[in-house]
Amino acid sequence: MPFVSRRRISAPIAAYLLLSLLAGCSVHPPAPQPAAPAPFVAAPIPAGERGQQIRLGKLIFDDTPTYAHAYAGNQFTCSDCHLQSGTIAYASPMIDLAQAFPAFSQRAGHVITLQQRIQECFTRSENGQPPPLDSKELNALVAYIDSLSTGAARGHSYPGRGLVPVPALTGHPLTGRALYARQCAACHGHNGAGVPHVLPPMWGPGSYNNGAGMDKPPKMAAFLIRNMPQNHPGTLSPQDAYDIATFIHSMPRPAFNPAYKSY
Ligand code: HEC
Ligand code: HEC
Repeated sequence: MPFVSRRRISAPIAAYLLLSLLAGCSVHPPAPQPAAPAPFVAAPIPAGERGQQIRLGKLIFDDTPTYAHAYAGNQFTCSDCHLQSGTIAYASPMIDLAQAFPAFSQRAGHVITLQQRIQECFTRSENGQPPPLDSKELNALVAYIDSLSTGAARGHSYPGRGLVPVPALTGHPLTGRALYARQCAACHGHNGAGVPHVLPPMWGPGSYNNGAGMDKPPKMAAFLIRNMPQNHPGTLSPQDAYDIATFIHSMPRPAFNPAYKSY
């Protein structure tokens, strides 16, 4: 015989679940998080032409529509997804990334260079066009990413590379819609459009296209668990994150241009 009978606890728990659902609150505990490596400190930017190239690369990274307008098809900056100029662990950082390429790409099915990986984010996340290999924009981005190397040995990935690991779950879009309204819409908009230049969109014509990594619910869930909501990161459970990502995934966005399939 249990100490508290089922009958006595079920009523308050049912009421809590109902209230939480109505309020769009989470009923799941937050996801356990891997510890963050020590904050990254960038080396000083060298003088001369190399330094100018690195500076331009950082400008493009932080304001892509302005500094790479010929290739960006939306208002996203690289830093909207690769947070704080690509220096935050588990927000797909650029730290020590240069020496991780060339690398096998599952998406492409062959080995790709860092230049090709950047071109992929232009055709998919930026919903634009790939900057050519000899363009000043692409070379500046490579110089900037190179400048975030700590000198770690080749093959030794930065410990906070990529996103946090997530379990495989099934998201429920209706629960996700309620969670989005309560925890995300104040910044990203009830219509998902965000605020151009300030807050990135979640869906609609100004968003990334359906070939982008963020359009895959497990990948977005992994981003959210660690990094959103921006004012309370680390509070979402894996199930909340899947529910929200599945809801966002159900909304319309631009189609990936199949002409860029090789990127
Ligand atoms: C809408 C979000 C978004 C935007 C905008 C975006 N990216 Fe990405 N990027 C991603 C995601 C998601 C991944 C895959 C992360 C993963 O799988 O670990 C990725 C991966 C990458 C990688 C490979 C990282 C690795 O660890 O292998 C590079 C390099 C990259 N992006 C560069 C850029 C650059 C440069 C820009 C700006 C021109 C940009 N991205 C814009 C979402 C974005
Ligand atoms: C306080 C404002 C705020 C709240 C609340 C917030 N975000 Fe964000 N979000 C941002 C900002 C600002 C960025 C751009 C990156 C940065 O500067 O941190 C961002 C970036 C993102 C990105 C990556 C870029 C993109 O558009 O794909 C996603 C995905 C995202 N947020 C989803 C969410 C979800 C889902 C929630 C609710 C659980 C949420 N955010 C809550 C401010 C917010």
